[in-house]
Amino acid sequence: MRMKDKVVLVTAAANGIGLATATVCAKEGATVYLADRAFELAEERAADLVSQGYRAHALYFNALEKETHTAIVNDVIKNEGKIDGLVNVYGGTTPGKDKTIFEESYETFIGFVDAHLASVFLTSQAAVRSMAGTGGGSIVNIASVSGVAPDLTSIAYGTSKAAVMYLTKQIAVQAARANIRCNSVAPGMTATQTVKKFVTPEFQEFFLRHTPIKRLAAPDEIAAAVLYFLSDESAFTTGQNLTVSGGFSLAQPTFADMMAMTGSQLVEGE
Ligand SMILES: NC(=O)c1ccc[n+]([C@@H]2O[C@H](COP(=O)([O-])OP(=O)(O)OC[C@H]3O[C@@H](n4cnc5c(N)ncnc54)[C@H](O)[C@@H]3O)[C@@H](O)[C@H]2O)c1
Repeated sequence: MRMKDKVVLVTAAANGIGLATATVCAKEGATVYLADRAFELAEERAADLVSQGYRAHALYFNALEKETHTAIVNDVIKNEGKIDGLVNVYGGTTPGKDKTIFEESYETFIGFVDAHLASVFLTSQAAVRSMAGTGGGSIVNIASVSGVAPDLTSIAYGTSKAAVMYLTKQIAVQAARANIRCNSVAPGMTATQTVKKFVTPEFQEFFLRHTPIKRLAAPDEIAAAVLYFLSDESAFTTGQNLTVSGGFSLAQPTFADMMAMTGSQLVEGE
């Protein structure tokens, strides 16, 4: 029970990495709040957890409606008297809109950046102001390998995720004296419903050619890294980013070519 008696708020928690995070926190003893634009689905997810004997609630949160950022944190504090953990999972892009420096309008670019940064800045600001008065807490932000290595497209998404990692470090340094920690997790491609639905098998195969552990992440594997940062196991760790990508972005750019040249020998470890 690594999260016993803790209160944890997770954004974008009705699906994917957010749902996996809320679920593992509930199973580890936390009272969890699932905040999502898909409020009815968040309610269903929370009811499902409650039916299994866990403590869970749903909140309406829309990253494009700034008043909801502070509201969800305040609702948790009003109900529980404190917030111990905040996980900022919201994020994403629309590849058809988020393109290259040649094509993208500044309005589109800053719209994506604004949504990503506001959803971390405003929720974190409301959380740290409360945590500072209740003995501290832990914030975990979901970044992406797209924030580590530049992409051929999605200029706003990569820039936003890199900024999320840096904002994480700023919060870590500025809030440490209040016993508040802040870390980030940068997933590689993760087998969420969205990825399964929208990322073509061809692109997934291309991506895996550059992933030493040659498979997609399971949402639970990303949630496990989040849980580590939330729990007291990482009590002396702050301002860090943990990339959970099966080695994607770690290997040399020539990795896929080398694997093709050496064939199955390297793959099977012979
Ligand atoms: N899945 C991946 O391969 C991958 C890789 C790297 C990083 N990430 C990051 O992980 C995070 C979660 O991604 P995922 O794949 O688990 O997502 P997902 O598509 O499985 O779930 C996204 C959730 O966000 C909610 N949502 C969408 N727009 C919203 C809005 N405006 N306001 C509030 N909620 C909204 C949806 O209702 C949904 O429940 C994102 O920050 C994403 O950038 C994902």
